[in-house]
Amino acid sequence: MKFIPVNEPLLDGNEKRYLQECIESGWISSEGPFVRMLEEKFAERTGRKFGIAVCNGTAALEAAVIAAGIKKGDEVIMPSFTIISCASAVIRAGGIPVLTDSDPLTWNMNTDEIRNKITKKTKAIMAVHIYGLPVEMDKVLKIAEENNLKVIEDAAELIGQKFRGRQCGSFGDVSTFSFYPNKHITTGEGGMILTDDEDIAERCRSLRNLCFKASRRFEHDELGFNFRMTNLQAAVGVAQLERLDKFIEKKRQIGKMYNDLLKEQIEIQIPVVETDYSENIYWVYGILLKNKKNGNADIVMKQLAERGIGTRPFFYPMHLQPVFRNKGMFKNEFYPVSENLSEMGFYLPSGLGLNEDQILRTAEELKKIIS
Ligand SMILES: Cc1ncc(COP(=O)(O)O)c(C=O)c1O
Repeated sequence: MKFIPVNEPLLDGNEKRYLQECIESGWISSEGPFVRMLEEKFAERTGRKFGIAVCNGTAALEAAVIAAGIKKGDEVIMPSFTIISCASAVIRAGGIPVLTDSDPLTWNMNTDEIRNKITKKTKAIMAVHIYGLPVEMDKVLKIAEENNLKVIEDAAELIGQKFRGRQCGSFGDVSTFSFYPNKHITTGEGGMILTDDEDIAERCRSLRNLCFKASRRFEHDELGFNFRMTNLQAAVGVAQLERLDKFIEKKRQIGKMYNDLLKEQIEIQIPVVETDYSENIYWVYGILLKNKKNGNADIVMKQLAERGIGTRPFFYPMHLQPVFRNKGMFKNEFYPVSENLSEMGFYLPSGLGLNEDQILRTAEELKKIIS
């Protein structure tokens, strides 16, 4: 039986045509016209003034954190349950990640914990939208305003999702995205920074391009990075962006189909369909095993793999990461919801290339295993 991969991108629009244009015109580096086009179209679609395309979502976070003004000793409040890129960006800027636990239903950062984590050193809140539903941004924005904190929004997983009708990626002083192939739109590798602040935008552009001095190329006042996106990547991105609405519709169809097939399964928690602020977009279709006595996510994932079905484990919490524990960070910190998510959660095949038969087969095999 054919293996069902956890993700398969859909590249059946204008991708080939635009790539051919790059090759025929010779514009393959970051200087080509598709880069600017992607920046403008993506910013416009998200309702932001400035877009800065970069080489991946991790780079987007690294530049965004510096551009938001995070410096040595500054604290940034973020969820423990996220990808390491969020914490490493803060640490590389000299800052200190301060963690919160997650909400047991939405799996996003528990916004009720933010206020207690604020100290004199707190400079920003990093809100990371996880898997399908946004962080409660109204609460984050209120706390940030009352405490004069910057908001860094990581919208990598929720391209095109909305919070109370407003686009995710439009909330941060600076907001970031990833265009890795499992994202709603892909450029192979790639990322984007969005902001309405001209100074932040200019700083990100400079950081992305080695901080060349505007007045004299090859002279530098500051150390930057080469985070540039190529015209080839941007060409794919422009073609993908043309079909974002269709992709979102497809993600929701996949989510709905899994929901219908799995909703009777008392052994698992399936994603929340909607809250009063958003309808789930199912970037990935995550499930959480309810009873540890019946085994953890690793065991079920292994059995699914034996039946030809690809899965991915949930994130591994920041406070348990060996790389941080070895540095003495997050000692005696416990975030039980994040720990449970990482031990009991995993996601099913949910890429845009998935078809109905594959969903049916995945759900059937899963049901057999868990019951
Ligand atoms: C929430 C979040 N932020 C950042 C990233 C990093 O993006 P990239 O893999 O493009 O570096 C990811 C990765 O997939 C992510 O899920």
